Parts: sequence; structure tokens; C-alpha cells
Amino acid sequence: MADNILDRFKEAVVEERVDDGKKVKVGIIGTGWIAEAHVANYLKCPDVEIVAAADLIPGKAEKFCKANGIEYARLYPDHKSMIDAEELDIVSVCTYNRTHAECTIYALENGVNVLLEKPMCVTLEEAVEICRAEKKSGKLLSIGFQPRFDENMKMVKRIVESGELGDIYYIQTGGGRRRGIPTPYGTSFIEDKTAGIGALADIGCYSLDMVLNAIGYPKPLTVSGYTSRFFGTDPVTYPEHPEYAKLFNVDDFAAAFVRLEGGIILDFRIAWAMNLDTPGDTIILGTKAGLRIPSTECWNGSIGGPLKIYRTIAGSDVETEVPERENHCDNFYSKIRYFVDAVKNGLASPVPSSQILYNQAIIDGISRSAKAGREVEIEIPEI
Ligand SMILES: NC(=O)c1ccc[n+]([C@@H]2O[C@H](COP(=O)([O-])OP(=O)(O)OC[C@H]3O[C@@H](n4cnc5c(N)ncnc54)[C@H](O)[C@@H]3O)[C@@H](O)[C@H]2O)c1
Repeated sequence: MADNILDRFKEAVVEERVDDGKKVKVGIIGTGWIAEAHVANYLKCPDVEIVAAADLIPGKAEKFCKANGIEYARLYPDHKSMIDAEELDIVSVCTYNRTHAECTIYALENGVNVLLEKPMCVTLEEAVEICRAEKKSGKLLSIGFQPRFDENMKMVKRIVESGELGDIYYIQTGGGRRRGIPTPYGTSFIEDKTAGIGALADIGCYSLDMVLNAIGYPKPLTVSGYTSRFFGTDPVTYPEHPEYAKLFNVDDFAAAFVRLEGGIILDFRIAWAMNLDTPGDTIILGTKAGLRIPSTECWNGSIGGPLKIYRTIAGSDVETEVPERENHCDNFYSKIRYFVDAVKNGLASPVPSSQILYNQAIIDGISRSAKAGREVEIEIPEI
């Protein structure tokens, strides 16, 4: 109870901000599905002004701005022309994965802070280039993992950090959907030329972040990975659009066995589609206790029920259910608000690239290993 009272107080501090009258100028790159959530939450911030939007598809940015109440935004045909013409404080990179790196690097090189949607990018090489551009620019970069702001996610990290579990030695994570290939707004998630990676990056990055963030993001060392695409390439998967099956050329399932620094093993699996409800809950095994994080049927970075801790006390097996915690504000709003505050006040990045670099290194390692058909080393260059 005392904890809840303190949390409410913390939230109040976040909500009450000193207004210096200056508006942070924001540009939106990519006016698709997720850009709507960015705009809706920037509009909740009185100290933010969305001044511009860009999209490669002619007419798309204009239609988007009208539909989302920012018809006053200046429109551009791509990220470069917008960044060159405007004096922006922040860009939200809401493009498909394949253009994450080029948009982010161009913005950083031109002195603009970047809120980059997840996954960070497609390859480890791109992630390294992004981190180098960030370092050189002195600007702020945060990666769009809104589950980080979820109170139950924070609890996972707190439990690990409390030492109650002892030394962590094994983690099983991932999850997935029985059928849930994301095509409601077209094919940008399922084509290599736009997405680059499928379920592995789209929802896999969340499940990796949940556990790696909890244990302090140890360096990944080696990985043996597998990917497949049995459902995405089957026309029956898309009753309305059987032609999508021919376009599908990313993964819809991935599994991997990853060795992390400190002798920790990470056992991972993720699915956009499978003949099962869930491939299992996330578990974190420690020398003193184990933690179970219930899976959901739609893995996108949420938790499917109360966390449970298993341990033995005085010879008796004991299970403790951790009460579910209420979120005081929307995670998406927190993602936007914390980033704006960090930019305005020179604070640390809410979701730093130095951590997500390891997330991307694992995804990259799984893709490489799956192609090679054997275990591969993960080598992360100096930034
Ligand atoms: N955080 C979340 O909950 C969440 C949810 C959905 C999607 N996403 C992520 O957001 C990203 C976008 O997803 P979406 O569903 O909005 O995709 P989308 O295909 O609907 O929209 C992407 C848009 O970006 C535009 N674009 C690409 N390169 C560009 C460039 N250089 N300049 C200007 N515009 C460019 C495309 O033309 C397209 O309109 C993906 O990386 C996805 O993983 C995050």
C-alpha cells in the first residue's frame, strides 16, 4: 500500500511540469499506423507543437494530418526534405523498419533528437551506425519500447533487482499468436523490402527487452537460431487478400538459444502464427527463486496475469502471487512525455540505444544463424 502511495506521488511529479512557454517543435517521419499514436500523444502535451510531417507515398501525409487534427503541419515527400527545411527539436521516426536507420542517422547528423519506433532497425551494422551517429551528434535518441513504462513490467525488473531470485542463470521468453500476422494496413510488415525481419523483430524485440532490461542487459555472446514462414506464405492465412502469400518473405516464427555474459542462458521463441495458443510463459530462474510472467495471446509487450514467485522456505515449496499493479497513465503517453521531458531538460534517454543495441545484436544473430544453419558468435563493435 505504501508503495502505491509513493507511486502516485511519483506520477504527479511527472504530470506537473514547469512551463517555460517554449514549445518543442516536432516532425513526424512516416504517416502510417503507429504515427497516429505518436500524434495523439504529442497533442496531449501543451508544450509541444507538431509542425511538419513527411511520407514517401504522395498524398498520404496530407490525408493523415487532416484525419489526425494537425492539418496545419507542413508536408514533405521524405525525411530529408523535412529535416532540411524545418528547425526541428524532435522527429518521431515512424517508418517501416527498413528506413529506420537512414531517417534516424540523417536527423541526428542534422542536430535533431529522435524518438525511433521499435525495432531499432534491421541489422546489427545499422544499429552500430545509429549509435555512432548519436554519440557524434550529442543529441538524444530513445527507442519506442512503451512497455518499459508499464507498472507490471517495472515490477519484473524490481523483483530481479531486489535479489529475491538470487543469481539468474536461465530465462525462457517470447510468446506469440495463434494467428496474428499484422496486415491490417497493407504489406509493410510482411515484405523484406520494407520490414526486413518479421515476427522476430516486430514482437520478438519486446519479449527480449522485457527480460534483458530486467537483468541489466548483459552482452550476448553466441546464438543458435531458427526461423520459418509456413503460415505467411499460405494463401488461406489471408481470406481477404490471398495475394499477400506471394509477397510474404520474412519470418513468422523464430526460436533461439542465446548465451549471455555472466553464464546466463536465454531460450527464446516468438510467433505471428502457430498451431498453438502460446509457446509458454516467460520464466526467469534464479538460484533462490523463480519468476513466472504469464504470456498473453497477442504478444506485444504486455503481461497476461499476476506475476508468480516460486521458492522453498524452511523445506516447504511456497508460491507468492505479486498483486497486479495499475497503470496511472497510458504507456504510449509516457513514452512521448518522458522523451519530450528528457529533451527539454537534458536528461538521459528513457530507452537508451546502448541497451537496444544488444537487443538488435540478438535479432541479427538469430537471422544470421538461421541462414547459416549453425551457432554463430555475436560480435558488437565499439561505438
Ligand atoms: N510501438 C508500437 O506499439 C508499434 C506498433 C505498430 C508499429 N510499430 C512500429 O512502427 C513502425 C511503422 O509501423 P506502421 O504500422 O506505422 O507502418 P506503415 O507501413 O503503416 O507506415 C510507415 C510509413 O512510413 C513511410 N516511410 C518510409 N520511409 C520513409 C521516409 N524515408 N520518409 C518518409 N516516410 C517514409 C511509408 O511510406 C509508410 O507510409 C514499424 O517499425 C513498426 O514496428 C510500433
